Amino acid sequence: MPDFPPNSTIADVIRHRRTIDNFQPETLPREAILRAIDLARWAPNHKHTEPWRFHLLGAETAREIVRLNTELVRQKKGDTAADAKHQRWSAVPGWLALTCDVSDDPIRAEEDYAACCCAAQNLALALWAEGIGMKWSTGAVTRTDEFAQLLGLEQGERRIVGLFWYGYPASISDSRRKPVEEILDERP
Ligand SMILES: Cc1cc2nc3c(=O)[nH]c(=O)nc-3n(C[C@H](O)[C@H](O)[C@H](O)COP(=O)(O)O)c2cc1C
Repeated sequence: MPDFPPNSTIADVIRHRRTIDNFQPETLPREAILRAIDLARWAPNHKHTEPWRFHLLGAETAREIVRLNTELVRQKKGDTAADAKHQRWSAVPGWLALTCDVSDDPIRAEEDYAACCCAAQNLALALWAEGIGMKWSTGAVTRTDEFAQLLGLEQGERRIVGLFWYGYPASISDSRRKPVEEILDERP
């Protein structure tokens, strides 16, 4: 678990959150993920569309996603890569998908997707503040029709924002950012 004092500030949580893809085996209490979803939905959203839907995925659905992804990897990279992927993905304890409303209005669609991305980061921060890690993935499997079907969706019914793994971290990788001066533009 991240080594946080219990009274971490929001700055600590934002700065120290890392993408986690190596988890301890135990599954989380359902209440922990529900608490994070409860906070995630407080993301800003223009016109109050609340365009998000959180799909909590149980072991059966997770197994199907792992199977689907393994076959995709097998077709692209062969048996050894597929078997390694199968082993790694089968060890993930928590699975969730986030989808977004689809709008015919391109501005609404963009704003809704942006709001869902805010919700995704809220989710990550809410989990991290409880010592729970998450990985947001938009890998090839999430763009397949079969994946949408596993979420109970018709093709194109909702936009897939991401597939999220969550659980207690087994290890935490480093991450870097450019210095602020490099990303800052100041105008008079
Ligand atoms: C929209 C989005 C999609 C992502 N998709 C993937 C992915 O498919 N595979 C992956 O390994 N990481 C994915 N990530 C995680 C990033 O690789 C990760 O955030 C980045 O390496 C920075 O690490 P940090 O989050 O620990 O700072 C995604 C992140 C975002 C925001």
